[in-house]
Formats: sequence, structure tokens, C-alpha cells
Amino acid sequence: MTQHIGVLTAGGDSPGLNAAIRGIGKTALGDEFNIQLIGFKDGFKGLVNNRTMSLDGQMLSGLLTVGGTVLGTSRDKPHRMNVGGQIMDMTNVIIETYEANHLDALICLGGGGTQKNALRLAQKGLNVITLPKTIDNDVAMTDMTFGFDTALGIATEAIDRLHSTAHSHHRIIVVEIMGHRAGWLALGAGISGGADVILIPEIPYDTQKIADAISDRVRRGKSFSIVAVAEGALPIKEAAELHAAEARKQQAKEAMDKEEKQAAKVAIASIKASHGNQTIKLSEQLEELTGLESRVTILGHLQRGGTPSAADRILATRLGSACAEYVRDREYGIMVASRGEYAEAVPLDEVAGKRKLVPLDHPWVMTARRVGTSLGD
Ligand code: F6P
Repeated sequence: MTQHIGVLTAGGDSPGLNAAIRGIGKTALGDEFNIQLIGFKDGFKGLVNNRTMSLDGQMLSGLLTVGGTVLGTSRDKPHRMNVGGQIMDMTNVIIETYEANHLDALICLGGGGTQKNALRLAQKGLNVITLPKTIDNDVAMTDMTFGFDTALGIATEAIDRLHSTAHSHHRIIVVEIMGHRAGWLALGAGISGGADVILIPEIPYDTQKIADAISDRVRRGKSFSIVAVAEGALPIKEAAELHAAEARKQQAKEAMDKEEKQAAKVAIASIKASHGNQTIKLSEQLEELTGLESRVTILGHLQRGGTPSAADRILATRLGSACAEYVRDREYGIMVASRGEYAEAVPLDEVAGKRKLVPLDHPWVMTARRVGTSLGD
């Protein structure tokens, strides 16, 4: 019996998504598989509107090197979707589309949010399998997510290039790297690019200590400094405020107190708004404290664009291909994780709702400290 499998990509795009779709599809074309794929456009929204796309052999050809996702993506959540300006739970509509297309399973390629949404659908009885993608590398229970290695290469190259201009002008350059919650990308690119200061969300910073580290470099004859800062890194006081509001939200969630949860959400949004752009503030403060000129470079979506690196192509193909095998074996309710050289099935309820942050004693953190990089603490 032929299996009919839906595929969608959700959340922010990430290099390697097309390579993973191709990996699933090309493996599924194998004789013993008997799997027919159908793509849904623009994430979970495509399931609501039943907007499909063929994923036959011809469509899969040439995808390996292409950035973005041919399926399109969105950050829509099944249970909280904006429909004509109104937030609605569209889970039942998704189930209807699943049934109307006689799907045997749905493959969702995404990051942390997608794992949660996929679990919700699995709890409603759909057969769901996920793959972990995001340049942030913060999905739990997998060694690595595809997209991370490509973004790491782009951010490293940017730091390399910023060195020569910072050096020539005797300036500080503060380079903002993606990562609201997890600092993997800033930490990795900071180490590989030789940044002098690396700031990540997991380690709140003291601006005076950063200025001292930069001034110390000046005394040692190094009149320039590169500061690699994750977009979610915060000074100590601001980080404490935000963590307190987040803890309040979590408590309200556990107590199932909707009103208090909503109030905590509003408090979080207003704290974030009052913080403004910390990267620009940091640059201004460093100018003042060190007497050096400082410039800001925000790498932004450049880090998510373009062709995937060789490592991401391999990872995405490997996980995509393994995913087709799990579909053939009718193993559902799982995320296909990368563990060492192998792909492993991890129950979705062990992944969803967890975020892989940088542990404070992680070897990358210890290495950065040992080579004399300031982490701002
Ligand atoms: O893909 C994850 C991520 O890149 C985060 O690092 C970043 O904060 C966010 O997406 C940006 O998302 P958007 O493209 O929706 O602005």
C-alpha cells in the first residue's frame, strides 16, 4: 500500500531545508519505500488552506544547493493563527486537510516552536515526524540542527572582514549576531573569528568589565577590538528584570492562571521595549568608557540566506533520508535527531518545550576564556 506523506517547513528559514526535503524525497523514491510525498506551502498555514505542491522526482532535482525553502515558510501556529485579523485555533481545519489528502503522516521541518506545534498535532491523533533545523542550534536532544554550520561560516567570515577595518581605524566594532535566547552562533563565530569579547544571552554582561578588557588591550598595543554580541545578550540588571518576568509567566502557566500569564506577557513585552537596541547602546557606552571610536554591524538575515555549507548539506541529507526510513517503518511521534554519526528517533514529548542553551561550563565557553576572550562577566 502506498503511503501518502505531507511535508512542510515552518519557523524561520534555514540553509539545508531544501537539502533535507530532497533527502526525504530521493530516499522515498527507492523501490521498497512506496511513499508518495506532497508538499504544503508556507508552514502550518498551507495545511489550513490546503495549498499543496508536488514533490516528485523532477521537483526534487537541483534542490541540494539551494538556500531557503521551496515550500515557503511562516511562523503561524496551528492553535493560534491569524485569520483575517482574528487569532483562531485552526487545529480542526488542519485535521480535516490531513484527512482529505488521505495522509498517513506529516513531516514538519522546523526549530523549537515547530517541535511544540508538531507535538500538539500528534496529541490530536495525527502521525507526525519532525526534523530539527535552525541557525540558532537550540533544539533539544540533537547534537546539531541544520543551518547552524552555514550561519557560523557566514558570521565568521564577517568577523574576519571586520578585523581589517577595525584594525586600520583603531576602532571597536560591535558585531551583532542572531540568537535571541541561545548564544551558540555568537559564541562559535566569536571563537572561530577571534573576537576579543563575546556576549551571549546565557551570560549577562557588565559593560564596565568589557570596557576594561578593551582598555587593557590598548595598553598592550592593540588599538582595536571586535565585540561579537548575540542579539539576546543583556546587561546584568536588564537580564535580571527579564528573567523575573519570565519566571512569573512560567509560574502562571503552571498554575493555569490565564490572567496572570497574560499580565506577565505584557510585562515581558514592555521590558523588552524599554531595553531598546542593546547593541547600539553598548557601542555608545564603550565609546564613552574607552575613548575609542566604535561602530556597529548587524549581520541580520544575511546569516540565514544562501547556499548551505557542505556540513549542512550532509547533515540535512542524512536526517532527511533517515526520516524516510522512519516513515517506511511507521514510527511516528518522533523527531529525527543527530547523535554522533547516526540519526536517532527521539520522542517528540521529550523535545518539545525544551531549549538547548549554552551550558556555562561548556567546552566552547571554557576555551574562549582560556584564550583570553572576555565574556563580559
Ligand atoms: O531562525 C531563528 C532566528 O534566526 C533567530 O536567531 C532570530 O532572532 C529570529 O530567527 C529572527 O526571525 P525573523 O526572521 O522572523 O525576524
